Amino acid sequence: MLTVAVLISGTGSNLRALLDAAADPAYPADVVVVGADREAEGFVHAEEFGIPSFMVPWERFSSREEWGEELGRQLAVWQPDLVVLSGLMRLLPAPLVDAWSPRIINTHPAYLPEFPGAHGVRDALAAGVERTGASVIIVDNGVDSGPILAQERIPVLPGDDEHSLHDRIKPVERRLLIDVVRRIADGELDLTAVSARAGSSAAGGDVPS
Ligand code: GAR
Repeated sequence: MLTVAVLISGTGSNLRALLDAAADPAYPADVVVVGADREAEGFVHAEEFGIPSFMVPWERFSSREEWGEELGRQLAVWQPDLVVLSGLMRLLPAPLVDAWSPRIINTHPAYLPEFPGAHGVRDALAAGVERTGASVIIVDNGVDSGPILAQERIPVLPGDDEHSLHDRIKPVERRLLIDVVRRIADGELDLTAVSARAGSSAAGGDVPS
């Protein structure tokens, strides 16, 4: 059984989907802990499933590095096989990613490398593209620049705003995330091999604040 730590900042809808998937005994991964950088709405899902949680409040630390050190200490307590950034809206400091890469993955609401960063949905709309997408990647040293594990195109519809488009992207993200975690757990997807093939430095960050 693959053990997973999920880090969030927001509503945790992707976390919820992973928890629902993991409730099936046939699913080969378990969420063992949920962490956040703030009092995230998504903690409610962890509570409902009886999953332990921790918070490392961003504003209590004087630097990204110190915040990352505490986050690393919390993760070390649980020793998960995989860390999933699921809407954690903070850039991780390099030492933390160095310690966990390539076992850190991230979901992103755009078809990377298009529209990286904190506003993937808004930026796609502003660019006036006809289609955007959803991606799951390995976290590396850049901003949403790591090796792509799965992605899918999603059309932008006339009249879409950030909210409606994000609402259509999220179910795709959930499906991709659940499938990627399953493939990692089943050994179908070897993160070390993918990372090596991509020439990744096995370190990095993502998700700017
Ligand atoms: C998701 O769409 C995720 O891809 C995005 O935040 C949302 C979190 O939703 N992450 C980023 O934009 C990171 N660059 P959720 O809290 O409902 O799962």
